[in-house]
Amino acid sequence: MSESRLLRKARDYEEENALKVPESERPLYHVTGPVGWINDPNGFSEYGGYHHLFFQYHPYSAKWGPMHWGHVRSRDFITWEYLPAALAPDEEYDNGGCFSGSAISLPDGKHLLMYTSVRKPDEAGAPEYQQQSIAVGDGIDYVKSPVNPVIDSTMVPYGCSTSDFRDPKIFMENGRYYAVICNRTADGSGSVLLYESTDCLSWKYLTVVDRSDNKFGKMWECPDYFPLGDKQVLMVSPENMTGEEGFYAGSISVFIIGNKRADLSLERESISLIDYGPDFYAPQTMHASDGRRIMIGWMQNWSTADGVSFGRMIFGQMTIPRELEMRNGRVFQTPVRELDNYRSGKIIRSGCICGKTCFEDIRGRAVDLSVTIDTDNEAFDLFGIEVAKSSDHTTMISYERKCGRVIIDRSKSGCCADPLNIREFEVTPKDGRFKVRLLLDKNSVELFFNDGEVAASMCIYTPQEADGICFYADKPVRAEIEKYTLELRSPAAMTLAVETGNPPLRGTSLSPSTVNLDDLAGEVVG
Ligand code: FRU
Repeated sequence: MSESRLLRKARDYEEENALKVPESERPLYHVTGPVGWINDPNGFSEYGGYHHLFFQYHPYSAKWGPMHWGHVRSRDFITWEYLPAALAPDEEYDNGGCFSGSAISLPDGKHLLMYTSVRKPDEAGAPEYQQQSIAVGDGIDYVKSPVNPVIDSTMVPYGCSTSDFRDPKIFMENGRYYAVICNRTADGSGSVLLYESTDCLSWKYLTVVDRSDNKFGKMWECPDYFPLGDKQVLMVSPENMTGEEGFYAGSISVFIIGNKRADLSLERESISLIDYGPDFYAPQTMHASDGRRIMIGWMQNWSTADGVSFGRMIFGQMTIPRELEMRNGRVFQTPVRELDNYRSGKIIRSGCICGKTCFEDIRGRAVDLSVTIDTDNEAFDLFGIEVAKSSDHTTMISYERKCGRVIIDRSKSGCCADPLNIREFEVTPKDGRFKVRLLLDKNSVELFFNDGEVAASMCIYTPQEADGICFYADKPVRAEIEKYTLELRSPAAMTLAVETGNPPLRGTSLSPSTVNLDDLAGEVVG
């Protein structure tokens, strides 16, 4: 396989710099780039016995820049191995970046990536074009097609944009390939277009799946379109929400739930926010061979990313992969069940919380914590959990019983900017119980209320020594607390080199802290 100069440069750079990233910056079980900046998850798919995940990637700094595709793979969604960068913007038609896209397995055993190739405006006065291209590979190296772009700017329907036309999500149904792609229509707002193909090379436009009509933000980004239970779900990430739509202002991600019409467009029934925290955007799903629909998102947001990467070698991380389930017309999200294999040191406490209560053995920054409180027949109004706590820092999750409101507050979580520090949203107790599961991983907190009915994700920038966890209530409340430490066992980095003799990326685990680097040195090919 011939690597372009730009791809070789990116691969050399990540190999040289991945292990220089300070341990405190790298999460234990969430995906980050080997080095540099990442945004959207791309190409989330099963191939060759692995779950593959690619991502928008700028290896050379902790800021967005010319977009490459970084690459990791896993057997269980929790222990990931770094693979060398998969795509670099090395062709004339993608010299403005390899933007977001997706992946699918081909009948000939190859893995196909479909991405937006951004072509910069040229000197002759041609504007920027966003078109769709493909690359085919073996799970490590990918070769761009000589017929790229496969969906070019002449193939957008009348009135649609050729410069806001991006993020193809490819899927197969009834023996045909389909791709949903976001576009800005003539009214200036977003839509999702559907294309069809029999061979992934030649495509034809079919229909508009759904559109904003200027009611739900402006440009829509990163679509996904899949059946779930008895419904059809369209996921999109609208930009420039005003807040008047009943959601947060800025960039958000929504589930649009409805039914699929005969022409494959969506008959919309409801729209709901996917994640109520400040740091969530551009999610993508994959259909696992065991039947699960699994979603992963960028645990950041364009509205919150600015001003927080200063002084860091890596920036951006993914959420925990989440299993999706349709229950009574709502999408529930729960952390993939494989996470349970990494839990140890179970601690259970049950009893009455009144005032502030801390337990000596409940602390940590890589923790799976579930808390259930009785909400019936109680006089209390305020219950709270503080995590990542020290004398100077805290991250607070409070529940106000009378109005059924949750407030998450990270204004004392080590961030010297003000990236939307407080969020408020409703959580209705079920069967007289308010339940929350918290996943902490060094610099993030993910919350799942009512067994996944409501999710909220946030990044925190608190020093790692701040590892206290406390509970408080204004009046006595009965609580059950279950806490596990999350530990990554020996990473699979070395087996990778042995199995394939191929990937040159040294120290390929997401968790260099658990690898003995001296041991690694002799084993790695490269
Ligand atoms: C969403 C997005 C996509 C685009 C990519 C560029 O976060 O703006 O629409 O493909 O990021 O990095």
